[in-house]
Amino acid sequence: MSDSEITLVDPQELQDLMMNKFIAAGLPKVPAEETARHLTYADACGIHSHGTVRVAYYAERIAKGGVNLAPNIQFEKTGTSTGVVHCDNGMGQYVCNEALTYAIGMAKETGTAVVGVEKTGHSGMLSYYVKRAAEEGLVAIAMCQSDPMVVPYGGSGNYFGTNPIAFSAPRSSGDPLVFDMATTVQAWGKVLDARSKNRSIPDTWAVDGNGDPTTNPHDVRGLLPIAGPKGYGLMMLVDVVAGSLLGLPFGKHVSSMYADLTEKRNLGQFYILIDPKKFTDPDAFAKQVQQMTEELHEMKPAKGFDQVYLPGERSQIRRKKAMKDGIEVATEIYDYLKSDTVHFDKYNGQGAFAE
Ligand code: NAI
Repeated sequence: MSDSEITLVDPQELQDLMMNKFIAAGLPKVPAEETARHLTYADACGIHSHGTVRVAYYAERIAKGGVNLAPNIQFEKTGTSTGVVHCDNGMGQYVCNEALTYAIGMAKETGTAVVGVEKTGHSGMLSYYVKRAAEEGLVAIAMCQSDPMVVPYGGSGNYFGTNPIAFSAPRSSGDPLVFDMATTVQAWGKVLDARSKNRSIPDTWAVDGNGDPTTNPHDVRGLLPIAGPKGYGLMMLVDVVAGSLLGLPFGKHVSSMYADLTEKRNLGQFYILIDPKKFTDPDAFAKQVQQMTEELHEMKPAKGFDQVYLPGERSQIRRKKAMKDGIEVATEIYDYLKSDTVHFDKYNGQGAFAE
């Protein structure tokens, strides 16, 4: 985006505008506020693929009945350190955050929590959840299902989602260490970005309708897994754990984001939380993660790099700046957020790769 297409928006104003849009679509205040907080965080971190750009879509889905406005969230304890949170297809960011509260409580009480999150909506940016758990002193791993848009290694059709995996660990000083990635070479949002700018993409990102690598973002009909068979295996892990283990649809049977906005998504998310004190001295552990950070920072960078960054580090640098100077929002989206338009009635029934 060029500078003229971007407006810097105060974080609280942005959060309030998004919350009001969700309320106007029919979502009660509590889930609307949590969803808006999550999206504001994503945009502040510079992960624009999971921020304001999604508001019109979510508003349309809420308005058309594809989200349970008053979910009956139930935590079913299935063992000392295991459980399933039944989310009743409430708003993804809200119910997954509520589910995490149960998982954090269990991990603090029993030392670990292995918790499935069943029947959620699109949950957004996974780092939001694992960072929160690490701020409570826990090591956290999260994964979730997403729509089938990815060609399996050696295949010619789409089967898995971009199924992201994230982890976080406390450090003795500063923010927790946070890693968070889609298991595809690039997230779908980056192809959308290239489309909007009419820029070509590397031929390693995606394939066209014939299954051939393409550099034209408009021709993309399938995304490619990271590192060939290795990413393919990781996205499979996500569907096995966050899908089949919870009795949910898996792989190509997972609901599509746009196919029918009147239907609930029935997606799965999964948390593994570990209290370090069950394995080692927690202070020594946090110091060791800190030492790792410092040793990596001290390393001489490779040609073309200014330094070695830790995962999540650049997002936190961007977030701190954005919270002070304002969050970059596409002006078109900012105008929509300020307008009386609730949604544009444009997503329902679209294919996953529609413009
Ligand atoms: P990305 O490619 O921007 O980053 C992947 C990881 O690499 C991050 O931990 C990042 O901090 C790290 N990284 C990037 N550049 C680095 C550098 N120079 N040095 C060190 N580390 C660096 O992330 P991706 O794969 O585009 O995912 C974006 C977001 O989309 C994530 O938050 C993910 O959870 C979310 N997502 C959510 C889905 C859902 O259905 N809920 C589906 C797919 C993705």
